[in-house]
Amino acid sequence: MNPTPHIKTEGTSKFQIGEIINNTVHYDFEKIKTYLNIKGHILFGKNFKIYKEDEPLLFKLCCYFIQDHYSCAQMGIDTNKGLLLSGPVGCGKTSLMKLLPYLAPHKTNYEIIPTRNIVFSFNASGFEVLEKYNETKNYCFDDLGVEPTGSHYAKECNVLGEILLSRYELFCHPERSRRVLTHLTTNLNAEELENRYGNRVRSRLRAMFNLISFNQNSADKRN
Ligand SMILES: Nc1ncnc2c1ncn2[C@@H]1O[C@H](COP(=O)(O)OP(=O)(O)OP(=O)(O)O)[C@@H](O)[C@H]1O
Ligand SMILES: [Mg+2]
Repeated sequence: MNPTPHIKTEGTSKFQIGEIINNTVHYDFEKIKTYLNIKGHILFGKNFKIYKEDEPLLFKLCCYFIQDHYSCAQMGIDTNKGLLLSGPVGCGKTSLMKLLPYLAPHKTNYEIIPTRNIVFSFNASGFEVLEKYNETKNYCFDDLGVEPTGSHYAKECNVLGEILLSRYELFCHPERSRRVLTHLTTNLNAEELENRYGNRVRSRLRAMFNLISFNQNSADKRN
């Protein structure tokens, strides 16, 4: 157990992102932003910055990542579900899903995997790849919807569709008492997801995820 989860160390610098009062960390969004700016620089380079127009979305995500149940409930976010982060190309979805777990790794963590890589593994190794994701670990499947259809020895498979169905079973009936969470990033909207994965998946997505969307006209930060 880290006795000071509210103090972040980067090299020789320390950043305080909240205070401990009665054994509970009270996070401070202004201080969180300062820390995320620094950590973003370290991870993604000197051009990284927190965009003013992204702050309302960032606030929601931060409340989720620090598992502030009260603020999340006020914003209609269920801390027991995963995140489905959608938005236009290059708006910063993948970067945020890589950055935000640093806020409170003891509360929110997962392995982030591009969906295309999962399909490439399926094409090479077949159905055993699906088993890997049918376990009680948390995952973030990055860029849902851009992956090709799986094909192993001419057997076609909607790989992510199958994986999402089994992740739903794990979410509803975890082997241990702890919830098994899945997170997603995507450029697709709900209708496009349904067309790609079918209505069985779409209805489960609603049950499993909090839908958090960047503004449709968010700038492409790639350049
Ligand atoms: N806040 C930011 N400030 C500066 N650059 C950023 C920021 N967020 C992301 N970037 C940069 O913009 C590019 C796109 O970011 P990212 O890959 O996170 O977007 P994305 O929404 O996942 O895109 P895609 O839809 O193509 O998957 C990357 O090069 C990233 O380093
Ligand atoms: Mg991405």
